Amino acid sequence: MEIILEVYNEYKKKIDEALSEVIQRESPVTLYEPLKYLLSGGGKRIRPMMLIFSCEASGGKFEDCLNAAVAIELLHNFTLVHDDIMDNADSRRGRQTIHKKWNENVAILCGDQLIGLAYEYLLKSDFIQIQQIARAFTEGIIEVCEGQSFDKEFEERNDVTVKDYLNMIGKKTAKMLEISAVIGGLIGNGDDKRIEVLKNFAFNTGMAFQILDDYLDITAEESAFGKKIGGDIIEGKRTYMLLKAREYATDKNDTEVLEKVLNKDNGSLRGDKLISDVKKIYEKYGVTISAKKEIENYTLKAEEYLHSLNNELSKSKLKWLSQMLMGRKF
Ligand code: IPE
Ligand code: IPE
Ligand code: MG
Ligand code: MG
Ligand code: MG
Repeated sequence: MEIILEVYNEYKKKIDEALSEVIQRESPVTLYEPLKYLLSGGGKRIRPMMLIFSCEASGGKFEDCLNAAVAIELLHNFTLVHDDIMDNADSRRGRQTIHKKWNENVAILCGDQLIGLAYEYLLKSDFIQIQQIARAFTEGIIEVCEGQSFDKEFEERNDVTVKDYLNMIGKKTAKMLEISAVIGGLIGNGDDKRIEVLKNFAFNTGMAFQILDDYLDITAEESAFGKKIGGDIIEGKRTYMLLKAREYATDKNDTEVLEKVLNKDNGSLRGDKLISDVKKIYEKYGVTISAKKEIENYTLKAEEYLHSLNNELSKSKLKWLSQMLMGRKF
């Protein structure tokens, strides 16, 4: 497992280097300065990693898919920049968000430009499967926008179910991991059966990933997480935990607090106090435990798909990735 961590770090370094070379122009300054800031600001690079490991699991090599790996990371960064405007988030990766450091217009345009740059990198290599690759990539954009739209709609709705939530995170988060795996599989020249396996592995890993992101929103250390703790509470996000707590809470004081979160009517209960009250409620009704269980279930489901792969090293890399993501603190 130590060996795979080394591989991850080596690939991550190469991805970071490639990302630092994406922006070659200086002008317009209000476009390229924030983009340089963004692309040198770190990140786990898990989507490129999913793409590369899936490419290898299909017989391809790191060099074959580096451009596509950079493309998927650029696309992911587009979603982040726009997501931070929509979620009123002031920090990400331990730094100020673009709309905060510059302004919303700058951030909107940076996001738009990232889609263009993402396609530029996707089309850099001459793949025979380019049509399928471009189709998967485009499908990813369409679904992430649908997912993000549901996410925002849900903030105003009081009838959101856990099933709705799972559908929403499938679109906003799991799909992006899914297309990473599919594109990697296609570049590696995997057959339909193998690509289907990788696709299911990545989708379920992505489901676990978002539930854990929601969990970390209230349990993580801010310095490690890099984003403000409790952002989902303040924004009234219908997370797995909030929906479950609404279902389980019986004490009137608790239901009142949850109503305030659901209605974004925080009143006198502001900021840290509200966040710590909600955290206590999640713990009291076992909601944090049930979220952890759900994360484990999706990860186990994901890993079951790997059994049919025959390349042991690739299988270990993919399993390492899903385990690393489940154990992460950021
Ligand atoms: C954050 O993604 C957005 C979600 C889908 C939860 P990551 O947690 O992968 O963010 P970085 O790229 O590592 O910063
Ligand atoms: C992000 O969900 C999904 C995206 C498509 C970016 P979140 O809004 O929970 O992501 P973070 O927590 O801000 O990274
Ligand atoms: Mg969001
Ligand atoms: Mg957000
Ligand atoms: Mg989040």
